[in-house]
Amino acid sequence: MGQEADSLLNDVKTARASFEQEIAQVDTPEQLDQLRIKYLGRKGAVAGFFSRLPKLDPAERPAAGNAINQLKQFVTKAIEEKKRSLGSTGPRKPVFDASLPGTPFRIGSRHPLLQVLDEIVDIFASMGFSVETGPEIERDYYNFEALNIPPDHPSRDLQDTFYLEGDKLLRTHTSPVQIRTMEKQRPPVRMIAPGRCFRKDTPDATHSPTFHQVEGLCVDKNVTFADLKGVILAFAQKLFGKDVRIRFRPSFFPFTEPSAEYDFSCPMCGGKGCRVCKYTGWLEISGAGMVDPAVFGFVDYDPEVYTGYAFGMGVERIAMLKHMIGDIRLFYENDIRFLSQF
Ligand code: DAH
Repeated sequence: MGQEADSLLNDVKTARASFEQEIAQVDTPEQLDQLRIKYLGRKGAVAGFFSRLPKLDPAERPAAGNAINQLKQFVTKAIEEKKRSLGSTGPRKPVFDASLPGTPFRIGSRHPLLQVLDEIVDIFASMGFSVETGPEIERDYYNFEALNIPPDHPSRDLQDTFYLEGDKLLRTHTSPVQIRTMEKQRPPVRMIAPGRCFRKDTPDATHSPTFHQVEGLCVDKNVTFADLKGVILAFAQKLFGKDVRIRFRPSFFPFTEPSAEYDFSCPMCGGKGCRVCKYTGWLEISGAGMVDPAVFGFVDYDPEVYTGYAFGMGVERIAMLKHMIGDIRLFYENDIRFLSQF
């Protein structure tokens, strides 16, 4: 091999070695560009090697040209790779593209149970009932005693109670708000009390240890059972439409005398009988009655002057009927697939 060819191949080899060292040191795009010019530029190392080819013996030119091309490819590829790695780690200028669509997000909505609760409250408010509230942690006195349920009375067993320290408990119904309202207000009273209640129930399709009730109470002179029926009928029709019918069945509650349970004609089948009403045509809503004179005794209302009616209702029950929901637990699982349907 001629001397000229020998030294050219040697220089190409050395250039490759020093390029490898140099590119390892590069850590900015500017440095990389300088390195590119040094090797691949018009007056760079690679161009310099090519310009020496004509001086070689013609027979030796192809092999030497090949070696230079390999160097060129090696340098080009290495610079390309380095550029990519610098680009992904180096600081990027923020780009604002006003034409990009915005990030979609879900809009929340009121819980289906509270939507129904709102509707119930609105109906009674439109009939002149005030809206009262009471504590969820209640005293035995308000939850039981003043409602004519003395200690050891068997009806306490009907409501499995979460007892807390001392005389405190989680209220098992909204009826204690009747007492609290009558304590602070003289008749006439016309109130409802919506709220959360608690009972030691094992959850199943129709039981939840936490649930909601709306309580109603009306006390004045000459209030009769007919007034109670009128109010319940008006409520039922506003909620389920003009065709709904109501019925009262004799029952017992310690705080009302006489007591009743009331039903709505099944809004699904119109009372003809279907699976929802178990082919009876009627759906049980809750209890009601005329306020027991003994209850008036606890709040110092004169039972010779005043009479009153009271009623309760389960909000979950009504929401399940309205929306054909078969399992009460759905209200408390907060599954977005359920909630987003309302
Ligand atoms: N508090 C009763 C319950 O939870 C429901 C009830 C019955 C409320 C009769 C009333 C009433 O106001 O008069 O089972």
